[in-house]
Amino acid sequence: MTGPVPDSRPADAPGTDPFVRAHLLVTGGAGFIGSAYVRNVLARRDGTRITVLDKLTYAGNRANLEPLQADRELAGRFHFVQGDIAEPDDVDPLAAAADAVVNFAAESHVDRSIVDPEAFLRTGVIGVHVLLEAVRREALRAAAGDRERAPRLVQVSTDEVYGTVPDGLSSEADPLAPRSPYAAAKAAGELLVRSYAVTHGTDAVITRGSNTYGPFQHPEKLIPLFVTNALDDEPLPLYGDGLQERDWLHVDDHVGAVDHVLRHGLAGEVYNVPGDAQLPNREVVKRLLGRLGKPWSLVRTVEDRPGHDRRYAMDGSKIATLGWRNRVPFPAGLDATVDWYRANEAWWRAVRTGDWHAWYERQYAERLAGSAEA
Ligand code: NAD
Ligand code: TYD
Repeated sequence: MTGPVPDSRPADAPGTDPFVRAHLLVTGGAGFIGSAYVRNVLARRDGTRITVLDKLTYAGNRANLEPLQADRELAGRFHFVQGDIAEPDDVDPLAAAADAVVNFAAESHVDRSIVDPEAFLRTGVIGVHVLLEAVRREALRAAAGDRERAPRLVQVSTDEVYGTVPDGLSSEADPLAPRSPYAAAKAAGELLVRSYAVTHGTDAVITRGSNTYGPFQHPEKLIPLFVTNALDDEPLPLYGDGLQERDWLHVDDHVGAVDHVLRHGLAGEVYNVPGDAQLPNREVVKRLLGRLGKPWSLVRTVEDRPGHDRRYAMDGSKIATLGWRNRVPFPAGLDATVDWYRANEAWWRAVRTGDWHAWYERQYAERLAGSAEA
C-alpha cells in the first residue's frame, strides 16, 4: 500500500497547478504520516523537490525515509535538515526557499499528552506560530517583488479538535471542543492559522484527518502496538470497554488528501479527511488478530484513558467537492499493514528500544497488573 499518492481528480490542464515541479518544505517529515507524504510525492517523479525539517523526537525516524536512498532520482530531489519548527533560525531560511510548507510536525500521542503536555504546546502552538511568521514574511517579500509568489501553508490537523461526537458527523463549521491536551494543542495551532488567514491574508489551508493507520506508524498507537505485542504473544491492553469508535483512514489516502488540498484547497478553508471504516476498537482488534492468526485471549481489559473520547466521525462532503475520494478499503489496508509489521520486524524492534521501555512501563505496567479478561 505504498506508492504514488492516490489522486482521483482529472489531470490539471497545463499551467493550472501552481505546485508543478515545486520545492516543498515538509515539517515533521520523518514521522509516520509526514514520511509517507514525502515517499509518495517523490515517487510520482514529477520533478517536485522536498526538504524535510524534523526535530527527530522519539517519534521521528530517519529509517522511515530510507526507502528513498535506494533510488538515485528520488534521493536527488530530497534533502533532510534536523531542526525545530519552534526555532525561527531553523525555519526561516528554509521557508525562504520553499513554494509551500506542509506541516506534519507535532507531538501526536494522546496518552503522552496526558502525562506530559509541555512539548505538545511548544510544537503545536509556538511552532505553528513560527511557521506562520515565516510564511507571512515570505508573502511580504513576494508583494515587494523579491520572490515570485508567496508560499502556501498546509496545516495538518485532526478530527480530535471536534472532541467526542455522540452521534452524527462533524462538519467543518462545527465548534471546536478538544478534550485532551493533544487535541487542545492542535486546535490552538489551527486557530492561529485561521487568525493569520483572516488578519494578514496568509495563504493557508487546514486538513482534519481521522485516525490513520499503515506502515511505519510508531508502535505506541493502537494498531501497531497490538500487532507487535501479538507477534510476541504479549498482552494487548484494551482501554475500558473497548467500544470507543474511530473512523480508520489509510495513510496513503491521508497524504493523498493533504496533497490534494495543497493544490486545490481554497485559501483560509478547512477540509475534513474522513476514513472509510467507523468501527469500535474491539472490532479492529478482532480483525488484526484474525490476520495474525493469534487468539483473542491475548486481549486484556485495562483501566481507561482519562477523558477518553468515545467516538469520532466526520462528514467528508466538502473535500469531495474538490474532487477527492479515498482509495484504500479498510479490510485490504489493515491486512497489508499487519503483513508489513510481520515482514519488517527489524524496523519496529529498533523503535521498541531505549526510552520505549520506560514509556511502556509507566503507561501499562500497573494497568496490566490490574487487568481482566476482555
Ligand atoms: P508522528 O508522531 O509519527 O510524527 C511527528 C513528527 O514530527 C516526528 O517525525 C517528529 O520528530 C516531528 N516533530 C515533532 N516536534 C517537532 C518540532 N518541534 N520540529 C520539527 N519536527 C518535529 O505523528 P503522525 O502520526 O505522523 O502525525 C503527523 C501529523 O498528523 C500530526 O500533526 C498529527 O497531529 C496529525 N494527525 C495524525 C493522525 C494519526 O492518526 N496519526 C490523524 C490526524 C492527524
Ligand atoms: P490511538 O491509536 O492512541 O489514537 P487516538 O487516541 O488518537 O484515537 O488510540 C486509538 C483507540 O484505541 C483509542 O480509542 C484508544 C484505544 N487504545 C487502547 O484501547 N489501548 C491502547 O493501548 C492504545 C494506545 C489505544
